[in-house]
Amino acid sequence: MDTRILSVDKTEPESSVIETAAMVIRRGGLVAFPTETVYGLGADATSPAAVAKIFAAKQRPTSDPLIVHIADPKELDAVATNIPPLAHQLAGAFWPGPLTLVLERSNRIPPTVSAGLDTVAVRLPAHEVAVALIRAARTPIAAPSANLFARPSPTQVKHVQQDLAGRVELILDSGPTHVGLESTVLDLTVDPPAVLRPGGVTLEALRQLAPNVGYAARHIAVGEATSSPGMLLKHYSPRAEVRLFVGDRDAVLSHMAEQVRDLTAEDRKVGLMVVSEDSGHFADVSYVDLGSDLDEVGRNLFDGMRRLDDLDVDVVLVRAPEREGVGEAIWDRLYRAAEGRVIEVS
Ligand code: TXA
Ligand code: MG
Repeated sequence: MDTRILSVDKTEPESSVIETAAMVIRRGGLVAFPTETVYGLGADATSPAAVAKIFAAKQRPTSDPLIVHIADPKELDAVATNIPPLAHQLAGAFWPGPLTLVLERSNRIPPTVSAGLDTVAVRLPAHEVAVALIRAARTPIAAPSANLFARPSPTQVKHVQQDLAGRVELILDSGPTHVGLESTVLDLTVDPPAVLRPGGVTLEALRQLAPNVGYAARHIAVGEATSSPGMLLKHYSPRAEVRLFVGDRDAVLSHMAEQVRDLTAEDRKVGLMVVSEDSGHFADVSYVDLGSDLDEVGRNLFDGMRRLDDLDVDVVLVRAPEREGVGEAIWDRLYRAAEGRVIEVS
């Protein structure tokens, strides 16, 4: 399959481009499109055949459910049932935006979208292109991140091309995404509501509206996945081995410098992901500067992983961020990339 790429304005999407993309969706094809978090790989959420193409293109296990994207909060009733008042409150506060709500699935959404679960994950993205596409397609759009399974999520079109060229009919290009980390997934079918994946909407913000929201950072291995989708340990991974360092900044930085020396002596190619304030600390080593605050780090994280892969490094060293605000989501992605290899430095 040839993959077409069309540029589209991110604030005022050209209607001719949107109409072309909507046609592909209506015919049951795949379109990669931008959201505020990451690029999504979209198909008609009401068509089992179209949805099957998503799993095939991504090489994603059918046990991992997809998010259904809508263009208006009113469409919630079409995709979910028995919607609790809290869902409407949260939608009012955070939509459009990076919050995904897990609710009871309506019959209009085929079970395969949700990997056979009775629930459905729904969100309304804060991106004009995504919203225009859903509207023009006149159907909710199921979309996981537009990467190959277990690769870092795509925040730029070149990442989508790296993973899915020849596997998707059309890619809409609106430049780099703004948030860079995926949406927060909140399960409202359990009491108290539980965050399954920290993301663009922080726990602190959710708890202002729903103080009893729980979050138990829990990660499971591939193969254990069916009972608790979405918490796969090996996920978002560069090809290199990632080591995540936790502890006092100075102690961590000297320990990392020591590891750079040891690994280099063993002829292993080392790469670092650092915040700007740490970048002066290292010499003679490949590094990616992720930026100076948590929002910037979130935006640059997945691109950083892919850039180090392009440099063919064997080992990636990274200092863990503070686990507050969007730092919790960054911590989660790094922890998974490191497959749990956390090194505590005292
Ligand atoms: O920001 C995002 O959420 C992006 C953009 C494209 O919207 N999408 C995304 O999709 O990250 P994906 O498929 O890569 O991640 C969806 C997450 C997975 O962790 C999945 O297990 C979880 O949501 N999920 C989906 N449906 C679920 C359900 N019914 N119950 C529990 N978890 C669910
Ligand atoms: Mg994904």
